[in-house]
Amino acid sequence: MSPIAPLSLSLRPLAPADLPAADALRAAAGWNQTIEDWRLLLELEPDGCFAAERGERLVGTATTTRHGAGSAWIGMVLVDPAHRRLGIATALMLRCLERLEAAGARSVLLDATPAGRPLYERLGFRPVAALARWEGQGTGAEVGVGAVAGAARAAWAPGPHRRLRAAGPADLGSLVGLDQRTFGAPREPLLRGLLGRSVRALVAEGAGGLAGFGLLRPGSRALYLGPLEAVSEEAGLALASALLAGAGPGPVFWDIPDSNAAARLAAERLGFRPQRPLERMVRGAAPPAGDAAMLFGIADPAVG
Ligand SMILES: CC(C)(COP(=O)(O)OP(=O)(O)OC[C@H]1O[C@@H](n2cnc3c(N)ncnc32)[C@H](O)[C@@H]1OP(=O)(O)O)[C@@H](O)C(=O)NCCC(=O)NCCS
Repeated sequence: MSPIAPLSLSLRPLAPADLPAADALRAAAGWNQTIEDWRLLLELEPDGCFAAERGERLVGTATTTRHGAGSAWIGMVLVDPAHRRLGIATALMLRCLERLEAAGARSVLLDATPAGRPLYERLGFRPVAALARWEGQGTGAEVGVGAVAGAARAAWAPGPHRRLRAAGPADLGSLVGLDQRTFGAPREPLLRGLLGRSVRALVAEGAGGLAGFGLLRPGSRALYLGPLEAVSEEAGLALASALLAGAGPGPVFWDIPDSNAAARLAAERLGFRPQRPLERMVRGAAPPAGDAAMLFGIADPAVG
């Protein structure tokens, strides 16, 4: 019997009709994003998300997201378990890098799982920060409202110049401003999309203006807390606990940079525990210079 001819690999732009198959790869990897998250990635970069096909079957994905002119993110690098170790992820990464270099991105970032890290190292990515996925629970009426409200009250006593309130579309400009200080690059289209998809969005107002903001959005396995950005430990804790108080008793994921001790402490106080590591990696120029102390929770491993 003659050997089965290897199926050829083709790469092409990901299309809206691919999203159910792409989301099946996401589910097979146990990741938390939803089809709405895929839709946002495609809306942000209609020509910058890629599919790998073998024999008309979608077997791999990767997405790019540009943040301003100079920096960009690669995410959703997923390969069907039955088609791994054939160079598919490498081919997808090279396509993403080619596109981003042509678009002028000097610094390309990603958040690597332990499985992805060797692949990225071979492509010239180097680690710049460690993060961890933390898991906890919402604290809606069913679980411990008093205790959490107490912790938040102690941290952030409301006063004439200090309050938490719901964020709306009119807040987008100030959210984008604070995010640019934190992240170091402009991310207005991303924040607009995430704000529109949030189940709860809060801002902290302080005497000097916006002291922080936080979003909570649906996920396939758990609600996702992030981005969460704040100018002080107190504002970060108050925002996190108020977001969780509206979340009901189900699981919540929150990705926190290891370097932010205040954020880790807030997560511990709210009953969260680290679940798995992620490595932030960069290729090319140094990442945009933001204020890491303000980053209490990233937006998503797929976009930074
Ligand atoms: C990580 C992941 C994307 C890799 O996909 P992949 O298509 O298997 O990756 P590649 O084939 O390009 O490279 C994987 C390995 O196969 C090797 N390889 C590539 N082509 C090969 C071939 N023809 N024969 C034998 N080995 C091969 C590569 O050298 C690499 O070796 P390593 O294990 O020493 O790193 C995939 O395992 C996956 O989807 N994991 C779950 C999701 C995840 O963690 N994604 C990364 C997010 S940051």
